[in-house]
Order: sequence, then C-alpha cells, then structure tokens
Amino acid sequence: MKTILVTGAGGYIGTALVTQLLAEGYKVVGVDRFFFGKELLGSSQTHPNFQLLQKDIRKLNAADFAGVDVVMDLAGLSNDPTAELSQDLAWSINFDGGSNVARAAKAAGVKRYIYSSSCSVYGTGKQLLLTEESELAPATTYAQTKVRLEEELLKLQDRTFEVVILRNATVYGYSSRMRFDLVINLMTLSAWRDGQIVIMGGGKQWRPVVHIQDVVEAFCTCISAPSSAVAGEIFNVGSDEQNYQVFQLAYMIKSVFSGVKLITAPDDADKRSYNVSFKKIHEVLGYTASQTPLSAAKELKEALTMGKIDIYDKRLNTLKHYQHLLEVQETFSALAEDGKII
Ligand SMILES: NC(=O)c1ccc[n+]([C@@H]2O[C@H](COP(=O)([O-])OP(=O)(O)OC[C@H]3O[C@@H](n4cnc5c(N)ncnc54)[C@H](O)[C@@H]3O)[C@@H](O)[C@H]2O)c1
Repeated sequence: MKTILVTGAGGYIGTALVTQLLAEGYKVVGVDRFFFGKELLGSSQTHPNFQLLQKDIRKLNAADFAGVDVVMDLAGLSNDPTAELSQDLAWSINFDGGSNVARAAKAAGVKRYIYSSSCSVYGTGKQLLLTEESELAPATTYAQTKVRLEEELLKLQDRTFEVVILRNATVYGYSSRMRFDLVINLMTLSAWRDGQIVIMGGGKQWRPVVHIQDVVEAFCTCISAPSSAVAGEIFNVGSDEQNYQVFQLAYMIKSVFSGVKLITAPDDADKRSYNVSFKKIHEVLGYTASQTPLSAAKELKEALTMGKIDIYDKRLNTLKHYQHLLEVQETFSALAEDGKII
C-alpha cells in the first residue's frame, strides 16, 4: 500500500483528506505546524497507519520523504486577507515553502506530487467557463503565490517526478477544522446565528463552489490515475453546475431557514469573479462532484443546532486566528526573557 505525505494535514481540507486516506488503507504522514490544534485530527492521530510530523514546510528535507510515494501539498496561508497580513510571510510560506516541499520530495525520489491550488488564480475572469488554458489574472498576494508556485512546480515535472495541479473551487461543508470564512459556510452561520445573510459586493460576482468531500475525492482519484492522464497537468476541481453568482448562493441558503433576511452590501474588498469550466477533470479522470450547497447548508445547520461546533472558537475565522498568532508573537518578542513572558 502506498504512503501518502499530506502537508496541511491539520487544516480544513487536510483533516478530512487524512481521514479518507486512512479509510482507504493508505499509510499517511501528516505534516503541519498545527496552528489550529492537533486535536482536530481526532481519531486519525492514533490510527496505526498514521504518522504525525509537526514541522514547518520550509524546513522539510529529503529525509522527511523517505518511503513516501505521493505528496499532497496543502499547507499554507489559505485565503486572500490572511496573505495580506504580511505579504513577506505569504511569499515565504506559500511560495518558498511549497517550492521546498516539491524539491525535497523530488530529491527523495517521490513519484507524484499533487498541489492544492485555487481557482482564485483566475481573479476577475474576462469570460465565462474559464479553462485551465485561460489567461490568469491573480488579483491578490494569495493568488499570486499560487500562480508563481504552479509555474515553479511545472519546471520540476519530468518522468521521475509527476506534478499534478488541482485548482479547487471555493470549498464548503463540515470539517473538524471548521472554516467560517468561506462563502457558503459563512452564509449558513450568519443565517443560523443572526437571522440574516449579507451579500457582499452586490452579489453578481461568480463563485464556483465544491463540497469538501468532493475535493477529497479529487485528491484520491489522482493517486492512482495513469501518468499519461495526470503528469504535468492542471485540473479545475468542481462542477459546471456549481458555478453560482453570490446572490444565488444566498437565496439557496436562505431557503434552508425560515425568516432569514437578505441584505446587499454594494462593496467588497474581494473583487474576484470567475466562472470556470470543469470539463477537463470530468472528461480525463471521469470525476463528478456529487454533493450540493443545499445539502451542505442543511448539514451545517444541523451541526450548529446540535452544538457540534463551538461558534465562539476564534479559530473558525482563519484571518482572525492568524492575526491573533501574530499579536501573541509580537507580545512575546517584546516581553520574553529566557523563553518565557513571566
Ligand atoms: N478551502 C478552500 O476553499 C480552498 C480553495 C482553493 C484552494 N485551497 C487551498 O487548499 C489548501 C488547504 O486549504 P484549507 O482550507 O484546508 O486551509 P487551512 O488554513 O485550514 O489549512 C492549512 C494548514 O496549513 C498549515 N500551515 C500553515 N503554514 C504552515 C507552515 N509554514 N508549515 C506547516 N504547516 C503550515 C496550517 O496549520 C493549516 O493546518 C491551501 O493551500 C489553500 O490555499 C483551499
């Protein structure tokens, strides 16, 4: 059975991916700094086929990849506003870190490297149904780090080291490391908690979405797909049916609740709008997304109602949590003596 090394194993997608890989019988090495807490890995932590490696991706070396067949690289600052907190940090983690993972993996003889990129690379798309060949227009530091790393990774592609790039749509659905900074998850929380959904930026902007289990499925499909189909290839991950304008998502989520108000805010710092074609992944890999925003909103509503999610946990908002970590670091640098504040 293959050994899969997953970076970002403690993240929103990573925790779900590790669970699935272990269920499918793979051996898994989970790499992460665990900024959101190791406990979110749940029972995966004690699974006999799981090995935990708490290490920064910028410090990984070839020895860390001994015996690894496939790398799935998901670690990094995972949204636009967080990357703007410190652009230097974003380049250091998302670009230098990602390059280091790939180089170290290649040096160790890893055969396949699957990178978690994003449809954000399309920025403000000039046409509908953007394909993997369409012009990229990364509008933020986050998206620029993704584009630059994609280019860097494709330079490493050869017969011995197969690079596969997955450009995920915006993900939704429940995970043990819950993210309420993602559009569907956030709208569902607002509807449940506040009785209203705020449609940012007017709502006409396009946002393709994909369920977290469908993203996990895409990664798993790439493990054993033939080299001829995936080596050096880029795939948009999602489905043509799930290209929505933001206001459509709001109406859909409103329908899961009663008495929820929709409020339209004309402005949004987030200027992204892209409508994407998912034909390639369907035709080449036979991949079909099976989940829908409506069922995910119902699932999230139930999780919230059952108290499965602590809505006061600051880690649920990626930006706020990294802001908090940076503040802690500043306080520590100003006050620490002998490695302690007090
Ligand atoms: N969630 C989405 O909607 C989405 C969409 C497209 C692409 N992606 C990409 O998928 C990947 C995973 O996203 P996610 O939603 O799970 O994000 P996440 O923030 O939940 O997970 C990222 C993980 O990376 C870890 N990490 C950060 N810096 C690190 C470092 N220097 N060394 C080691 N670990 C580090 C964090 O601790 C965290 O557990 C990211 O690359 C993201 O850009 C996500």
